[in-house]
Amino acid sequence: MVTVVAINGSRRNGSYTKHALELALDAAAETGAEVGMIDLGEHDVPLYHPDHDPDETVTELMRRVRDAEGVLVGSPVYHGSYSSAFKNFHDYCGFEEYENTSVGLLASAGGGSYGSTLDHLRATIRGVHGWVVPQQVGIRGARNHFEGGDLTTESLAERVAELGRVVAEDARLRSDDRASVPAED
Ligand SMILES: Cc1cc2nc3c(=O)[nH]c(=O)nc-3n(C[C@H](O)[C@H](O)[C@H](O)COP(=O)(O)O)c2cc1C
Repeated sequence: MVTVVAINGSRRNGSYTKHALELALDAAAETGAEVGMIDLGEHDVPLYHPDHDPDETVTELMRRVRDAEGVLVGSPVYHGSYSSAFKNFHDYCGFEEYENTSVGLLASAGGGSYGSTLDHLRATIRGVHGWVVPQQVGIRGARNHFEGGDLTTESLAERVAELGRVVAEDARLRSDDRASVPAED
């Protein structure tokens, strides 16, 4: 069984990004994956400092990313890029957390543009050797697509669910590949 965790890069109460990630996780779970949410709004993550060791909270969050075969990264569009909450946590992570991990990207925008956010996420996940799947989801005018936590625009909901399924499936293929590599003498 593979594990897929979502990282919500919004700290906003009632975050649209979180609602969308929950939908993607539900779809991943339907394929048989174990799923979990890292909501950065619920954790106090100190500003990354290269001279300090991660505290207990961050160490546990890093472990959850490291143990997952698939990761769904979601961020609100902030000034044409992704959020500082995601970047701050991401700076704690590295190859150990993401090597051989399947990653799916999602961004929600207040306005009409999310392309640069998804591009920036793709680049920074490459920086830690994550395998970003080609499918990605951007939600423009996010407030118009949610009602009480549900993503009500069917076409978008289907794309989000597809993202969850693809990441779970890709994670499964990757771990099967790992398992089938013959042990060295
Ligand atoms: C600091 C800040 C910067 C933002 N910058 C943009 C932006 O450049 N483009 C845009 O479309 N929306 C922008 N927004 C709006 C958010 O992307 C939008 O409200 C998003 O849906 C929030 O997602 P959330 O509900 O998961 O927090 C910004 C919001 C904040 C707080």
